[in-house]
Amino acid sequence: MVGQRPYNEVLNQKPSVEQRLSLQLVNNTRNITMSTTFTINGQPYTVDLSDLPPDITLNTFIREHAQLTATKFMCLEGGCGACVCAVSDGQSTWTVNSVRSGISRSSAPELTTSPAVLQCLKLLNTCAQLEIVTCEGLGNQQSGYHPIQKRLAKMNGTQCGYCSPGFVMNMYGLMEQHGGRVTMSEVENAFGGNICRCTGYRPILDAMKSFAVDSNILVPKECVDIEDLGLKARNCPKTGRACQGRCNGQRSKLIYDDGHQWYWPSTMAELFEALDNVEDSDEFMLVGGNTAHGVYRRSPDIKHFIDLSGVEELHQHRSERDKLILGANLSLTETMEILRSTSKQPGFEYLEVLWNHIDLVANVPVRNSGTLAGNILTKKQHPEFPSDIFISFEALDVQVMALKSIGDEREMSLEQFLKDSDRIFVVKAFILPAYPKDKYIYDSYKIMPRAQNAHAYVNAAFLLELDFDSKVEAARICFGGIRPDFVHASAIEELMVGHSPFEPNLVQQTFSKLENLIKPDEILPDASPAYRSMLACGLLYKFLLKHASMAEVSAKLKSGGELLQRPLSSGLQLFQTQKSTYPVTQAVQKLEGMIQCSGEATYMNDVLTTSNTVYCCFVGATKVGATIDQIDASEALQHPGVVAFYTAKDIPGTNTFCEPSFGYDAEEIFCSGFVRHSEQPAGVIVALTADQAQRAAKLVKISYSNPSSDFKLQPSLRHVFSSGTPDPSRILPLAISKLQEITFSDKPDVEVRGIFEMGLQYHFTMEPQTTVAIPFEDGLRIYSATQWMDQTQSVIAHALQMKAKDVQLQVRRLGGGYGCKISRGNQVACAASLAANKLNRPVRFVQSLESMMDCNGKRWACRSEYQCHVKSNGRIVGLSNDFFEDAGWNTNESPVQGHSTFTAANCYEFTDSNFKLSGHAVLTDAPSSTWCRAPGSVEGIAMMENIIEHVAFEIQKDPAEVRLANISKKSKMATVLPDFLKSREYYGRKKEIETHNASNRWIKRGLGLSVMNFPVIYIGQFPATVAIYHVDGTVVVTHGGIEMGQGMNTKVAQVAAYTLGIDLSYIKVESSDTLNGANSMVTGYAIGSESVCYAVRKICETLNGRLKPVKKARASWVDTVEAAHAQSINLVASDHYKTGDMQNYHVLGLALSEVEMDVLTGNILIRRVDILEDAGDSLSPWIDVGQVEGAFVMGLGYWLSELLIYEGDNGRLLTNRTWNYKPLGAKDIPIDFRVELVHSQRPSGAGFMGSKTTGEPPCCLAVSVIFALQQALQSARQDAGLTREWLRLGAPTTPETLLINAGHQVAEFKLK
Ligand SMILES: Cc1cc2nc3c(=O)[nH]c(=O)nc-3n(C[C@H](O)[C@H](O)[C@H](O)COP(=O)(O)OP(=O)(O)OC[C@H]3O[C@@H](n4cnc5c(N)ncnc54)[C@H](O)[C@@H]3O)c2cc1C
Ligand code: FES
Ligand code: FES
Repeated sequence: MVGQRPYNEVLNQKPSVEQRLSLQLVNNTRNITMSTTFTINGQPYTVDLSDLPPDITLNTFIREHAQLTATKFMCLEGGCGACVCAVSDGQSTWTVNSVRSGISRSSAPELTTSPAVLQCLKLLNTCAQLEIVTCEGLGNQQSGYHPIQKRLAKMNGTQCGYCSPGFVMNMYGLMEQHGGRVTMSEVENAFGGNICRCTGYRPILDAMKSFAVDSNILVPKECVDIEDLGLKARNCPKTGRACQGRCNGQRSKLIYDDGHQWYWPSTMAELFEALDNVEDSDEFMLVGGNTAHGVYRRSPDIKHFIDLSGVEELHQHRSERDKLILGANLSLTETMEILRSTSKQPGFEYLEVLWNHIDLVANVPVRNSGTLAGNILTKKQHPEFPSDIFISFEALDVQVMALKSIGDEREMSLEQFLKDSDRIFVVKAFILPAYPKDKYIYDSYKIMPRAQNAHAYVNAAFLLELDFDSKVEAARICFGGIRPDFVHASAIEELMVGHSPFEPNLVQQTFSKLENLIKPDEILPDASPAYRSMLACGLLYKFLLKHASMAEVSAKLKSGGELLQRPLSSGLQLFQTQKSTYPVTQAVQKLEGMIQCSGEATYMNDVLTTSNTVYCCFVGATKVGATIDQIDASEALQHPGVVAFYTAKDIPGTNTFCEPSFGYDAEEIFCSGFVRHSEQPAGVIVALTADQAQRAAKLVKISYSNPSSDFKLQPSLRHVFSSGTPDPSRILPLAISKLQEITFSDKPDVEVRGIFEMGLQYHFTMEPQTTVAIPFEDGLRIYSATQWMDQTQSVIAHALQMKAKDVQLQVRRLGGGYGCKISRGNQVACAASLAANKLNRPVRFVQSLESMMDCNGKRWACRSEYQCHVKSNGRIVGLSNDFFEDAGWNTNESPVQGHSTFTAANCYEFTDSNFKLSGHAVLTDAPSSTWCRAPGSVEGIAMMENIIEHVAFEIQKDPAEVRLANISKKSKMATVLPDFLKSREYYGRKKEIETHNASNRWIKRGLGLSVMNFPVIYIGQFPATVAIYHVDGTVVVTHGGIEMGQGMNTKVAQVAAYTLGIDLSYIKVESSDTLNGANSMVTGYAIGSESVCYAVRKICETLNGRLKPVKKARASWVDTVEAAHAQSINLVASDHYKTGDMQNYHVLGLALSEVEMDVLTGNILIRRVDILEDAGDSLSPWIDVGQVEGAFVMGLGYWLSELLIYEGDNGRLLTNRTWNYKPLGAKDIPIDFRVELVHSQRPSGAGFMGSKTTGEPPCCLAVSVIFALQQALQSARQDAGLTREWLRLGAPTTPETLLINAGHQVAEFKLK
């Protein structure tokens, strides 16, 4: 049955949350047991908790009820940092007073609180008495901006700005936590939990590090005046004293109408009284920080929530001579502070190692809330969880103090505790023994896919007790991430006893036994058993290498004992400007930088709506290849708050979110029959809250008829090619060479064949797919995060059988697009519009991360099969390249015939007859693949660069020389490349690397080069309007492009100011909409900014023409405008840019990447990257440098860490969360990151004002990193005694790929 409950019925049954919510000033007298009091940005709130859901988060409250929108959200699981706010205790005021270092302090406060927390995990019911500070509270236009906001904006630290409030608040929290005294390395270490997809982090880190006491970073003049950091005491509204971060006021218990119960005990006795209410069938939770929800979702059936924050006993610690007792619910941050101070006591030196390990757990805000017991209980509930606290505690033989009832306290080992099956068991404390350093050796390890904020592939901790003779008395050798039932390598622990751990014989026996002992399970998406086994052995080997004396280890092996040491990162940015065209080419601050950093910049989900707004969630079909028979939503419709459910049958017009008249194949808004991919939306649930919609969506039942017997599920390119002979019906030849055979241009000496594979990439915009649809008079007002208003307007109108005039869109800005908001967001837009239209009330649809990753197509994965014929000097005389790109289930947005083909020869010279290129689309059972930053070009350039590298390898020539041998002498690259090699000391550094590699067995280095010739092709049209106000001469521009972080609006303003001859401060760029931007082309293909600038210049020239007759010599701009107005001259003009107005051009670029690889773990450091890009006369150099850095780092993520895994049996995407999909973080970027923008001669008429695009091309240069890794690996393999052989590295080349290809055997693990 497909159903919808009548709207009135639902409405009458239950008033909306908003209707019942009361926010009152603290002085109001309300039933104290039902309400909670806190302040947000100094404003006191008293909230009647019983009016709100029992598990409402602080994020939902702040955004939807307090209507403070500076704080964003994306993942809702602690993995992105968009929602950071501060819970402040305020101790003293800090001032910034020097250009270089920055901070002076007026007192030396104690560290008492952990201020930065994630709103998406913090439950409102644990916020009593807290002082909450959000980004708009820190600084804003009215009260003035905060120094952190100012520096981030002025130091070019924002692009789309969606992540910026999170970064600001994380920094603010860090400063608060450390009393304003932070070092550069503490700052650089603190942003592991904040993802920025746009900037590449370098400018953000610079801005933040400039506040450090040891800062050497130059800050702009305007930021160096004495600035008050505002870390002021904000006292508790209740006590009048500094907030202690935990306080439960006078409440002790709250029973909700629906039976939910909350308790706020302040003693153990009260805690057990609360537990007495828990019936056998009831689910309950002892609430620590509620962060485990970010890993394993909390059960929706929890009836009893017991807040532990008020139970003082759980937060105490005590150190004695032989033990340290840590209260169970100390936060991980508090624990780290205690560890650091206690490590100075004899016997506790090892706590420094534990500190370092916990520093790698999650991220700062999670550690500020998450507790020790919460972590250990997560391990108890989910034995497969690779807990770092558990593995460390287990090796250290930490004892657990736990209570089954108030008088029944027990001390037991962790192992016993985990095995205990009693449901009610309160952990009170953990006891850490002293381990005197002359008798014990302790170390621990955590190996992850990126530097921070990732769970371990494998973690390990080793404790050896030695006798007076340095022989092992006892050993604890523990590994995590192997199997739920495997922790101790018991056989090794026994084997070691009585021996020196470094005895050659023992070492040999240890590793031959260990390899057989470690048998990891095979569960996707975890890394392969082979990798985890090798890694585990490698970690024990590392431990031995580190702790053996120099005499016991040969020099070449010794460096294997250390983990890679990452120094502080830094960058260099070089560009030229031309004063004659200022503000064009001037390095100006981004127009909206300041309001992005304060959170005042609005994104689509920040549009405020009336209180009857409803929320949406897709219901996904799961049986791929089958046909939907029936959809039964009856149970979902009974779920509290559910308003409606719609399917394909409810769509009055066409059921497609891609417009055929725009050249697309139709793609259904709601699946009406055949299921194309897992989680394909089959309907939408509409409810009073987003949480209710999410929960109800899971209750919808879909029945299917069976797939036909010849349907074989193949959700990815790898599945299609796994059989060797792919199903021909899945291969579509889209760009086939007309050549039958290639004709060699000379007689070849060598043939080089190979296969090169690149995976999918998810865009990972920080702003989710979002649409707010509001019925207005006889139409709809749509606020949609779209890169293409024209198409979004069109599909909504067609789906609803409305006229385009009645569907008006407005787009202020996007929080990142990278291609995924060109058409993919239309599915959300159509569903929201349908609901708004049917229900006649505002609808807000923010797609969840899982749903976006499940439903939105990704970058086209690509497989290149090549056959190359070369002379021994490296000159290619013939090349065939058959490439296959993963289309998903249809070929919409295909780069095969476009940029993949256009870029596949890159900079190299071929004739018409010696290069045969054939491109195919491959149909898979996955969402239709889509444009993703530099679509097709990343693949095209990488295919060719890989061939060059492979050729160089086979003929044993330097890859730079092979490039030069194939670049046309007429090409600009023929001169740029040798200069680049010289200025970047390519040959000298290569030699140094060879010397390093020859003397280091386990740490290898490599240097990788890439060159690029990126074609820019102008298409489409972009209208714009410029209005001059006679009142004061200020100017507003609107246009059909979309500002999404690429700095379009700043460039537009610069061009308008230059053309009109006025100061930049006169110009404002307003929202894009479907009135002034009607019929606009998609903003993409890297041409949007230039095209819109072109239109704006044309308009400004028209206005100049109109002003000319009234312009008097030496008259001011304002006077001229006023004179024109007096004569009724039209001060508003519109025009547009169209195809043909500007000529196409190419962008040249080069990159040189130097890497270091730990052969025993597969982890890497990017030691240095040099990028040189031809940006023409950059319109706005800071923006273009930012685009180059950001695009390159997004490319690095593609090549190194972003792994998408589909399950072959059901087509499910297994990596659809921040928990398992890993774009690079702040400590993964190049340590030394140098970017130079150069200007090269261009054909006249090409581009706009001599500028060139920067948003996409640098993404194509990141492939250099895998060539550097190839070199490092080859050295490792040579040492392993393997024959020389080219390795098929592709995207992504993860630590697993590297270790597996390094070629060593465990038997090789010797100390000498
Ligand atoms: C983004 C992210 C990344 C992470 N990365 C890592 C990582 O790399 N390594 C790692 O080890 N962990 C990681 N974690 C897990 C993190 O350490 C835990 O979420 C945290 O420690 C849980 O503590 P909590 O207080 O928030 O627990 P809660 O979520 O509040 O509670 C979790 C469970 O513990 C129970 N509980 C809490 N206190 C007690 C008590 N005193 N007695 C009995 N039961 C109790 C609760 O009933 C509940 O069942 C990560 C978490 C997130 C969100
Ligand atoms: S939304 Fe809270 S961390 Fe991502
Ligand atoms: S500026 Fe950081 S995500 Fe866009």
